[in-house]
Parts: sequence; structure tokens; C-alpha cells
Amino acid sequence: MAVPSLFSASVVLVALFCCYATALQPSTHDQGCVHLPIVHSTNVDYFSSKRGVQLQLANRSDIAYYAQLSIGTPPQPVFVQLDTGSFELWVNPDCTAVSGADAAFCERIGQYDTTKSSTATSLGTTKTLRYGIGTANISYFTDTITLAGSSTALQAVQFGVATASEDAFSGILGIGYGKDVATRYLNFVDQLRAQMVIRVKAYTLALGSKDAQEGVIVFGGVDTSKFAGKLARLPVLPADRSPDGVPRFWVDMQSLSITPPNGVNRVYDASKTPVFLDSGSTMTLLSPNLTAAIANDFGARMSDDNGFFTIDCALARLNGTLDFAFDGVTVKVPYKELTREVSSSPPACFLGIMASEKFTLLGDTFLRSAYTVFDLETDSIWMTQAADCGSSPAALNSVQDLSSVTGACGLSELVDSTSGTLAPSSSLESVDGGGAAPTRSGGSQAPGTSSENNRARPTSGTSRRSRSSMGLVSSLGMALMLHILT
Ligand SMILES: *[C@@H]1O[C@H](CO)[C@@H](O)[C@H](O)[C@H]1NC(C)=O
Ligand SMILES: *[C@@H]1O[C@H](CO)[C@@H](O)[C@H](O)[C@H]1NC(C)=O
Ligand SMILES: *[C@@H]1O[C@H](CO)[C@@H](O)[C@H](O)[C@H]1NC(C)=O
Ligand SMILES: *[C@@H]1O[C@H](CO)[C@@H](O)[C@H](O)[C@H]1NC(C)=O
Repeated sequence: MAVPSLFSASVVLVALFCCYATALQPSTHDQGCVHLPIVHSTNVDYFSSKRGVQLQLANRSDIAYYAQLSIGTPPQPVFVQLDTGSFELWVNPDCTAVSGADAAFCERIGQYDTTKSSTATSLGTTKTLRYGIGTANISYFTDTITLAGSSTALQAVQFGVATASEDAFSGILGIGYGKDVATRYLNFVDQLRAQMVIRVKAYTLALGSKDAQEGVIVFGGVDTSKFAGKLARLPVLPADRSPDGVPRFWVDMQSLSITPPNGVNRVYDASKTPVFLDSGSTMTLLSPNLTAAIANDFGARMSDDNGFFTIDCALARLNGTLDFAFDGVTVKVPYKELTREVSSSPPACFLGIMASEKFTLLGDTFLRSAYTVFDLETDSIWMTQAADCGSSPAALNSVQDLSSVTGACGLSELVDSTSGTLAPSSSLESVDGGGAAPTRSGGSQAPGTSSENNRARPTSGTSRRSRSSMGLVSSLGMALMLHILT
């Protein structure tokens, strides 16, 4: 593979010096980057029962994305949800406060016991974290955090240990802005930089496609085997010019269009809008009018009580895309990646977009198809279409390098290529014949209710039913600024 020739000279040196080496030799802080696997919540290798009782993870289909941290001395492994939409790390959700598949999942992500760590220190302070869905009351501790697969150890990192939580089935690793922007202390990403584990305060997110089951996050670097060509730079909108005034990864979307199978691209009206990138949100949230127009194109007129649009599962096999256009780059999201599939009988499918009057955010149903660098130094997002042609994480010496970094993949390796193979989805096995829409009898009642926007309103109550119905729980990952600087 012609990887080196595609790099700029400076990046080649770093790549050879840095992350490739992690597998070959113990990593040191000089390496300049840390890459962690992103584990999909559907991955049974990680989250199924060891006693052979298979957890029904299909209900949790493509819900969330996890990284493993090891906390304390000796290290205690825990999985935490990667969330670009919030700012703090916390662990130990109350698994008795969630039910069904969520509780079983919660049991498997691991708990951290402060009394079993010789380096744990209580700070004696507490806070309540509120998310789009879910809350956690935490006590702050500091402890050593070791990163899985590397000997990198961060000393005295501040994080929360939950004393109570509601509607949270995992802890959260908030990787949004930290000290002096959104938090009063150095958050996890700040600490990686402060303790010289990374040379630039930036990280790359490649969630991986639904079929991939695994993605990668590279702190302090890039993975050139997860995209083709160049990255486009999008300025992050300053908080005071953003729709909600919170320092999130807000960028301007220029337009949203649909390219139907073998059809002509059509741009949606009024689709130019600021959006923020939120890996902590399963769904993408757009304005009610825009969502209605898209849903209509997917054959769905009304959302159900929970705000979900039931669509025909056969759509997920079609060669069509929704095309999210930004200044200098368009990310094409295949119908399949936009579709939420629930393995009921018959399988039920939902559009991965919901209406919200309050938030416009691109969640996992978008991010799986994008390769994104979050550059917290120059407040930029660098983005292009995701691809997959191996693994080659490399450290960045400076975020300026990003403009010269070229992806190692060919265009045929775009994971979401419309001209590529249309691998049948394993969870769609029984939808073939006749293309009948698997609309269940209760699936589309409540005409006219678009009140589901309250799912996304961090302060108002979301109905219990809307949170837990069929495991379609969406952690919106949005701790309000209000709750941060208190
Ligand atoms: C998965 O969903 C189905 C249908 O909604 C339900 O009958 C089943 O109990 C769920 N499984 C778990 C483990 O929650
Ligand atoms: C969290 O703390 C707040 C304020 O002390 C309290 O009102 C709330 O009930 C607590 N939440 C849980 C789940 O215990
Ligand atoms: C939404 O669509 C309705 C009907 O077409 C229109 O009257 C309204 O102005 C639109 N709202 C927004 C915010 O564009
Ligand atoms: C999918 O559609 C595109 C045009 O939108 C076309 O170029 C491509 O060949 C199609 N692929 C398949 C597998 O039908």
C-alpha cells in the first residue's frame, strides 16, 4: 500500500515514530498520540454475557459508542460512552435505575471502586449532570487513568463517580471543550495535552459503519486509513454566535439533499442551518419542517408517540443517500446508515432523524459516515467522507499538518460508497419478500403529535415511555452550560 507517499514529509516521520509503534513497543509519552478502539454497543464480543447467555443486544442496535478506560491503581477497566456533546467524565451509573436490556448492558460495562484504588482521592465536591436524557449526581475524585492498549497513564485526572443516576446505563466520557471554556478544571482531553501524552489538543473520530462493529478514536492524531483524499476545514461557531450559546462543535451546514436510488439529487428547502456534532446522540435532530420533508421522502407521514418515524426496512437496502453539504465537503449518508433497525418480529425500522424545535444536531446516524477531526486548538472541524482501508494512526505535531494530510484509502474503499457493494444487513434478513413495510399496528398512532421535541429539552421531563421504548434510548449528551459553571 502506498501509504507513505501520500503523507507529507513531516507526517511520515511522526507516523513511523508514533502510533504504528504502539503494537510493537511499549508506548511512551513521546509518541504524541493515543488510539483507542471505539466499541459499538452491539458488539457481543465485549458486551455479551460470559456465561453463554447471549444478551439481546439487537434491541440496542447501533445505539452508542464506547471506549475503555482503566481507572485507579491497580487499574479497573470500565467502558464509557464517547460524547463530543458534553464536557465531563463520569462513571458508575446506577444500573438498578434502568430496566430490561439497558440494565443488562449496564451491568457489563464495569464499575470503578474507589476503595480498591490506592491512588483515588476524593475532592469532596459534588454536582448534578443533566443530559438530553438522563441525569447523574456525582462526587468528584481524582485518580490515575490508564488507556487500554497503551502504557499511557494520566495522573490525578478529575472525574465524577455517580452516587445516583437516572436513565443512564453507562458512564460518559465528555470530550467537548474543557477548562476555561466549559469546565472549571482540566477535563480528560485537557489532561492528555497537559501531561504531554498528545502534542495537539485535537482528536479524530471514525465511528465505523454499522457493519464494522468497531471504530477508532485517535487523541492527538489522525488515522489516514479511515478516509480518502483531503480534509475540509470548517470553523467551529463561537458560542456567542451559536444557536444555544454553548461552546459545542457547531458548524454551518450549507444544505441537505437527497440522492434517491438512481435518481436525481434534490435539495431540501431551508436546509442551510448551523448544526452541532454530537457522538453522544444516537439520532440526528433537525427542524420539524426539514424532518417532515425527509420523512415524507422515506414514506413516513407521522411520527409515533416517541417521535420516531417508522419506515420500510427494505429502504435500507436501496442505493440512495442523504447528502450533508458543508463548505468544501459533502458527506453522503447511505439509507442503511440512516436506518435504525430493531429486531422485533417482523423487524421494525425507523428513520435516524427526529424533529426538534430546540436543537439541530448531527448524531451517530450521520457521524458513522463521516471522518472527523475535532481541533480544539484552532476551533476547527476537519471533515470528509469515511472510508476503511486498515489502520494507521499517526500523531500530529501541529494542527497545521491537517491541511497536508491525505487519506490512504482509494475511492473504492469509502465505506458508504453508493457505487460500492450493498452488503445485505444481517438484521434485515426477513424483509426481502414483497417489500412490505413492517409497520406494526401500534407503530404510527398519535397523528399530529410533534411534541417529541421534549426528548431533547434537557430541563423538561421526558416521558419514561419515550426513553425506554424498544431500547431506542438516545443519550443526547447535552449537559447544559448552566450546569457546568456552577
Ligand atoms: C427486545 O425487544 C423485543 C420487542 O420489543 C422484546 O420483546 C424483548 O423483550 C426485548 N429484549 C430485551 C432483552 O429487552
Ligand atoms: C441528585 O441530587 C439532587 C440535588 O441534591 C436531588 O434532588 C436528586 O433527587 C438526586 N438525584 C437522584 C437520582 O438521586
Ligand atoms: C414550516 O412549514 C410551514 C408550512 O409549510 C410554514 O408555514 C412555516 O413557516 C415553516 N416554518 C419554518 C420555521 O420554516
Ligand atoms: C448507485 O447509484 C449511483 C448513482 O446515484 C450509481 O452510480 C451506482 O452505480 C449505483 N450503484 C448500484 C450498486 O446500483
